[in-house]
Amino acid sequence: MDRIRPNISMAVIRRLPKYYRYLGDLMEKGITRISSKEFGRIMGFTASQIRQDLNCFGGFGQQGYGYNVKELREEIGNILGLNRRYNTIIVGAGNLGQAIANYSGFAEAGFILKGMFDINPRLIGISIRAVKIMDIDEMKGFIARENINVAIICTPKEGAQDVANRLVDAGIKAIWNFAPEDLNVPDDVIVENVYLSESLMVLAYLMNQ
Ligand code: NAI
Repeated sequence: MDRIRPNISMAVIRRLPKYYRYLGDLMEKGITRISSKEFGRIMGFTASQIRQDLNCFGGFGQQGYGYNVKELREEIGNILGLNRRYNTIIVGAGNLGQAIANYSGFAEAGFILKGMFDINPRLIGISIRAVKIMDIDEMKGFIARENINVAIICTPKEGAQDVANRLVDAGIKAIWNFAPEDLNVPDDVIVENVYLSESLMVLAYLMNQ
């Protein structure tokens, strides 16, 4: 946390996961160091962009040596906060909620799914990969008891604001929102929206050029 300087732009922050992913690929190939030129080439960035981005965090490269792949990946992971554990819940255990629960990759990034919540009595009581779906009325107590930090909203648009209010009331400060609804939350609550359909619309646009 201390490493994050307040003046780092969100544009840089949003590039860091890509650096992290590419560095992981390099490690898998057994590559231990890489120059900013070569790193830029594979990432589709210029060498100066790479140097500029990584300098924001104090600069990890050494003149004439390049970057140590493992160390740089570790540092970026630390900057992103991937060296921590986030106790996570999913609200809305339908198609999308269950698909997210079934994906094991989020746990590798530190997001540990502890529980799921829904209003549909037919879903309550069943488990997805050993994670139980509970009644939404049990959510507040569960959040406090299990020290939940992150909530993923996968309800229909209509219920999303009400769910967000309940999460805020229960003390949640970070929401990953999949519902197509702009949520109103207090300033100290972070909402990260994900809209797959926006990406699909860009694809449609590009196909029609
Ligand atoms: P679904 O109908 O299969 O699941 C929604 C679940 O939410 C149901 O189980 C329902 O009982 C539950 N629910 C409804 N109101 C609730 C409330 N107030 N509290 C707790 N649970 C509640 O729908 P699906 O396909 O899983 O989609 C879920 C949401 O995700 C929708 O808003 C959809 O538009 C959105 N979506 C977003 C995507 C994205 O990229 N952001 C991609 C796909 C879906």
